[in-house]
Amino acid sequence: MTKSSAPGKIILFGEHAVVYGRPALAVPVSQVHADADVSDSERPGIWIDAPDVNLHAELNTLPSDQPIASVIHNFLFLARVSPFPDLEIKITASIPVASGLGSGAAVTVALTRALAAQLNYSMTDEEVNAFAYEIEKLYHGTPSGIDNTVVTYAKPVYFVKGQLMEIFKVGQPFTLVIADTGISAPTRESVGDVRRLWMNDKAGWETVFDKIGEVSFTARRAIEAGRPDLLGQLIDENQALLQKLTVSSPELDRLIETARNAGAMGAKLSGGGRGGNMIALVQPEMAESISAALKEAGAKNTITTRVL
Ligand code: MEV
Repeated sequence: MTKSSAPGKIILFGEHAVVYGRPALAVPVSQVHADADVSDSERPGIWIDAPDVNLHAELNTLPSDQPIASVIHNFLFLARVSPFPDLEIKITASIPVASGLGSGAAVTVALTRALAAQLNYSMTDEEVNAFAYEIEKLYHGTPSGIDNTVVTYAKPVYFVKGQLMEIFKVGQPFTLVIADTGISAPTRESVGDVRRLWMNDKAGWETVFDKIGEVSFTARRAIEAGRPDLLGQLIDENQALLQKLTVSSPELDRLIETARNAGAMGAKLSGGGRGGNMIALVQPEMAESISAALKEAGAKNTITTRVL
């Protein structure tokens, strides 16, 4: 049997603008992960057991565009596996779906690595990442590639679409509280809405993307210089620009306001927006009380994570 695990992720700065070539920063969140186990099967076929999405089926009974089936089909094609082997595949994930924490990319990466190991097909991280990007494109329209990259490498990533990714150094660790609105919001939709805005006024929105890109660039320098105290204001600036892009929501705004009032140094949505998760930069000793305030204000779940 082979097992593989991939972490969730959060975007610190630059979501949406990253789709238009501006830099973004993202970090893995190891408290949530997707896990895949692959073993030989005694029954004929490729059997998938994914209880979190209530999927218990043989591969050939599923539509080929079902997300997990599509990872398996594409992998078997890539690795030129023929005839199909008999396999048992179990997938579990503690990452909520459509919440901005990278659940789709994490399932793809964990499953790809477990299949590759079980079928003795060697893949470098670059190859896993490129494969996961192709899968992301099937489901997210025009993804930048940041989700699959941070999940594949499980390192803090400074990402510019189409360029080699850079791992950034964290000069001084800092603490974030991540809070889930509980509203699932597919990235594809908010990315599509931003595209429609942009199509109607490219010059205007390019200016907003430029401003977000500058925030990401400045934030990277502050993080590397060990100045997380400079990040709060940048986080708030990024949130104001995301609001302009119409990807925040009343629920996100309420949690962001709550975090700031409870003493966070800055707060913003993270990922596609419209629902999903927000992040708050906090002093470590404040994490518990800010989490409690967020839950009181309606957060379905909170995670405290240290960016190292
Ligand atoms: C989603 O986690 C981040 C977005 O910028 C989309 C993307 O980069 O593909 C909203």
